[in-house]
Amino acid sequence: MARLANKTAVITGGTTGIGFESAKVFIAEGAQVMITGRNEARLAEAVEALGPKAIGLKANAQSLTDIDLLTTKVEQKFGQLDILFANAGVAKRAVFREITEAQFDEEIAINLKGLFFTVQKLEPLMKNGSSIILNTTTLAQTAIPGEMIYSASKAAVRSLARSLSMELLDRQIRVNAVAPGPIDTPIWAKMELPPEIAEKVLQRTPIGRFGKPEEVAKVVLFLASDDSSYILGEEILVDGGWANL
Ligand SMILES: NC(=O)c1ccc[n+]([C@@H]2O[C@H](COP(=O)([O-])OP(=O)(O)OC[C@H]3O[C@@H](n4cnc5c(N)ncnc54)[C@H](OP(=O)(O)O)[C@@H]3O)[C@@H](O)[C@H]2O)c1
Repeated sequence: MARLANKTAVITGGTTGIGFESAKVFIAEGAQVMITGRNEARLAEAVEALGPKAIGLKANAQSLTDIDLLTTKVEQKFGQLDILFANAGVAKRAVFREITEAQFDEEIAINLKGLFFTVQKLEPLMKNGSSIILNTTTLAQTAIPGEMIYSASKAAVRSLARSLSMELLDRQIRVNAVAPGPIDTPIWAKMELPPEIAEKVLQRTPIGRFGKPEEVAKVVLFLASDDSSYILGEEILVDGGWANL
């Protein structure tokens, strides 16, 4: 029996990387999936690749208007929701002494504020006993230069996994987080890092390689499914030993 048979899921930022691989796994396990993204071409390509069990919606995770649109679309297409993977996020490289207010605001608006309101607005559509997964990062427990605001935004998201899980106990909605380490996705190219930084990240990773997005997606599937029915407020590291070794 497929682990997500007849389930409905939303994945924010599902057009590439971890979100896209999670959509693939969810669909393979029987779910219908709605993915979001900002870039229309990437969205169309992803929906095409995922096939008929996928629906795409162009929605910016930092816009409350777009989050309302997402809520309306979920209600129209699915009625109710079994799984929310709040995954959309950006990592901007900026060192402490050079961080501007605009950079600070953008990263917090997408990674923290947008995520919070996505959960708040979709929660009424979520079934009792459903599952919410938040995407954090191993960097919320460690540090690398130039990722201070990113790490802080995700540390706040880790905290939300606990608080939301507590507040949603009345409906037995479980909220957990997945904390990836360095995973080989387009986010690295978007950061426009000097090449030596990627090399340093690799050297710093105990397992000696970048992770694959499908290695994170398998853990997201576990948290989305009933296999994790007694786990709540937890964060699972998928980081090649980055935080622990
Ligand atoms: N890769 C890593 O090493 C790593 C490590 C730790 C945590 N993570 C977290 O994993 C999540 C997914 O990242 P990824 O590595 O898979 O990177 P990615 O390939 O760049 O995927 C990011 C996804 O989020 C979407 N997105 C970004 N900003 C958005 C916004 N404002 N509104 C709607 N969609 C938005 C992107 O769509 P568009 O292209 O259309 O904007 C894309 O679908 C992020 O939250 C990231 O912080 C990644």
